[in-house]
Parts: sequence; C-alpha cells; structure tokens
Amino acid sequence: MQERVISSDVSEFDERFEQSLRPKYLSQYIGQEKVKNNLEVFVEAAKMREESLDHVLLYGPPGLGKTTLAAVIANEMNVNIRMTSGPAIERPGDLAAIVSSLEPGDVLFIDEIHRLNRSIEEVLYPAMEDFCLDIVVGKGPSARSVRLDLPPFTLIGATTRAGALSAPLRDRFGVLLRLDYYDQKALTEIVTRSAALFDANIDLPSAGEIASRSRGTPRIANRLLKRVRDFAQVRGNGDITLDSANDALELLQVDPLGLDHIDHKLIIGMIERFRGGPVGLDTIAASIGEESTTIEDVYEPYLLQIGFLQRTPRGRVVTKSAYDHFKYPYFEE
Ligand code: ADE
Repeated sequence: MQERVISSDVSEFDERFEQSLRPKYLSQYIGQEKVKNNLEVFVEAAKMREESLDHVLLYGPPGLGKTTLAAVIANEMNVNIRMTSGPAIERPGDLAAIVSSLEPGDVLFIDEIHRLNRSIEEVLYPAMEDFCLDIVVGKGPSARSVRLDLPPFTLIGATTRAGALSAPLRDRFGVLLRLDYYDQKALTEIVTRSAALFDANIDLPSAGEIASRSRGTPRIANRLLKRVRDFAQVRGNGDITLDSANDALELLQVDPLGLDHIDHKLIIGMIERFRGGPVGLDTIAASIGEESTTIEDVYEPYLLQIGFLQRTPRGRVVTKSAYDHFKYPYFEE
C-alpha cells in the first residue's frame, strides 16, 4: 500500500518525533478548550482532596492527542503513567500484573480500550470500582477466588469508538471527554510551536497553510511540517515560506483541503461506480480494498465533518460540495 502522508497512524519513528513535541502541562496544551476547562477543575479538586483522579474516558478520531492528554493529566497530578493498549492485554493475568504494580494515585492508560476482550473487562470492573482484584487460584474442585487489594489508581481509557465500548465498562468512567477536530487557529498555533521547538523558521501564512491541509489533526500537522521543512532545507535556504510550503504540499499530494489519494479513491469511486450513493459501508470497503472499520474510524470522520459525505439509513451519500471539489457534474435526484 502506498504510504499515506496524512495517515493518523503512528510509526515508531514518528512516535519518537512526536514525544519531543508533546506538551507536558495543560497550560501548554493548545485547543480543546472545553476538555481542558473540565480537566483543570477535576484535577484541582482531586489534588485538594488528596485523592486519585476519577477514571477518565477520552474518545474521538485518531491523532487528536488522547495519549498526549493522558500524559499531561498524569503530570498535572504528579503521578507516574503506565501505558498499554486493549489488544496488548491478552490474558487476565497480564492486567493483574500491571495493576498490582501501580503506586497509589498512578495513571494506567489503556489505548484502544474498545478492543479489550470481555474476560479482561471483567477483571477490570472490581479494579475500577473497589480497587481490588478477584483472582481464581487453583483448578477444578479446589479452585477458589482470592481478593487482592490494589492501590487507588486512575484508569484513562482512549478510544476512537465510544459506541463500541460495553455499557458496564463505559458506566465505570466518572469523566467522559470527547476530543474534536482542531480549528484552523489552534492548528496554526500548534505548527508554530512545533517549528519553534525544532528551530525551524516559519512565517504565519506558511503555518496557516500547513494547518489548513491537516484535517483538523495535530499529528498530521506535525508530520506535514516535518516534510515541508525537509523540502525547505534541501531546495531552499531552510526557511519555510508560503511558496516552499505550497510546493512541498503539492509534491506530497495533499490537496488544499488536506485530502489525499485515498480520499480521492473513496469519493471518486462512489461517484463513478455508485452514482454517489446511497451505498453501504461494506460495499464501499470491498470496492476500494479497505476494511470497513478503517473507513469508519479513520477516513470517513473527516469527510463527514467537512460535509463531503453524509450517513443516511440507506448508506453513505456523496454531497454536492464533494462533486464540486472533485469537478464532477452534480445532478439532483
Ligand atoms: N502537539 C500535538 N498536539 C498538541 C496540542 N494539542 N497542543 C500543543 N502541542 C501539541
């Protein structure tokens, strides 16, 4: 598969790069004002009462800073953070080993928490609710359940699909926070801040151009910035200007709305093969060779957000704005 510059997946290399850009405190975290305002109060209240923070569920599209925010919360609470993910916890014993090694007040971060399997969820319930583990010791008739006390801790779960979480798990989070796509102003600020952190000269219009092609997503903004900076260094004197930024973004095949070849393939495929829909998700997925869940979690949210796609009970529909953007004639049904 062709690499996707605007993918919101993280490679190991990007992960290291991103680490260095990550804000450490809420005051350095740009955007998501509602989420920050709420968290400030909850963190302050927990600290005043000298209690652990209630469990937090962060949800929203990939790349919006859920992991960053979890680390910021741990920093603000002055505690350690242990990071893992739903698919990485294979057996109840894996979870038991992690939670029993936590210090009082620590944060346990579980990314992709909707992918935890049910037998592990069941170990998590008493751990979240009563800070204890019920472990079965022995086998057969001599098996018995032993209760193990845990230090109080904060579970921070992150998911791109809050709807995929089981109700009992969702109900055990005291704080539910939805991250939204960033606006142009916040993304421009993030690009400017990141450029300053690695000593790249960038002017405001160039930062704005990168921001507007980043589909509301800091992870993409930082990645585009890095690539644009490479172009400026090799083809120019290192300073990022609007011309060099535009040239680089064109070469990277990221269009002015931040759409790339996969978005093009998806929308144009729907227009040409299904007359713009309505067409079911699975049919679209099969026709472009992608997983339905990838389309639903990764590609589609931004296309819905900018009004290029609509979800209807009969399937997905391409809107007139998308026809206009891709220069296809639109006929009213
Ligand atoms: N880098 C990535 N996301 C960020 C954010 N929300 N604020 C500041 N820097 C960031």
